Amino acid sequence: MKFNQSNIKKAKKYLDKNQCIGVPTETVYGLAANAYSNIAVKKIFKLKKRPKTNPLIVHYSSINSLKEDCLINDNFIKLYKKFSPGPITYILNLKKNSRISEYVTNKKKNLAVRFPKHKIFRELLKKLDYPLAAPSANITTKLSSVEVSDVKEEFGSKIKYILDGGKCIIGLESTIIDLSNKPTILRLGGLEVSKIEKILGKKLKLNINPQKKISPGQSQLHYSPGIPLTKNVKTPKKNEAFILIKKKKINYKNYYYLSKEGNLNEAAKNLYSCLRKIKSKGYKSIAVEKIPHKGLGKTINDRLDRASKY
Ligand code: TXA
Ligand code: MG
Repeated sequence: MKFNQSNIKKAKKYLDKNQCIGVPTETVYGLAANAYSNIAVKKIFKLKKRPKTNPLIVHYSSINSLKEDCLINDNFIKLYKKFSPGPITYILNLKKNSRISEYVTNKKKNLAVRFPKHKIFRELLKKLDYPLAAPSANITTKLSSVEVSDVKEEFGSKIKYILDGGKCIIGLESTIIDLSNKPTILRLGGLEVSKIEKILGKKLKLNINPQKKISPGQSQLHYSPGIPLTKNVKTPKKNEAFILIKKKKINYKNYYYLSKEGNLNEAAKNLYSCLRKIKSKGYKSIAVEKIPHKGLGKTINDRLDRASKY
């Protein structure tokens, strides 16, 4: 990981020219561009092959800069104080005079906002006089990127610069909570819902697989390795890659481990790299053993469910 001011300067130079660049966050890498610029934001959609109806998350360095674009409320303040910067995204109402490009939200009246924790990304944000729209740095429906080489694999020479921040420490996208209405969880992610419920003092509604989708990222096919994946498998088929939560004594060539001791945070961090690796080895299908449905295991299971809708 190279943390030096000249890399940050370089990143700023590209962004100031309305270019898209890869940026590291604590969750996954993002494909970032100036959220106030129509030209820059349109490039994100094109590069990702993303339907224009699927809005982007905008990343801010401080609550003061956020206040220029969004209306805040009490629930937001409570959660912000406890969890930001960190792996949580809030949906808030846009202000009438907000400068956010209409392409970010597809003309919706609310905006997804996040305060990333990664040091290098924060340093970059502080140097800019605009916030950054940044979806995950992957082609739509494919696996998210957790290190620079993944971003290169997704976009090749189509993006001019990737700010290197090493491997993402969480490895799964942020948890999304809608605060523009009755607080509702729209995506499971790197922050456990139970921790959010504790701060708000109530059980939260989950709307992660609705009939009427609020968040297009709730679409069933997502985070896909591009080959069939089956969950809760005890014995894999011959020639199939097998993902296990905890290292076993016996070691077969087709066995892949998410963690040494069965730690769910470590498993989360390794999930996307593991799927990417299996795909690169040319396996035609993936079996996954049962993952405990607690803590970040719930987010892992959510991603595996969507990956299995291949
Ligand atoms: O961890 C993360 O959140 C990463 C890093 C780069 O910050 N970003 C990320 O962005 O996962 P993306 O675009 O891959 O996923 C954002 C999700 C999409 O499912 C999108 O539909 C939803 O957020 N979303 C964005 N704006 C929304 C809005 N105004 N209302 C409801 N859902 C929204
Ligand atoms: Mg994504």
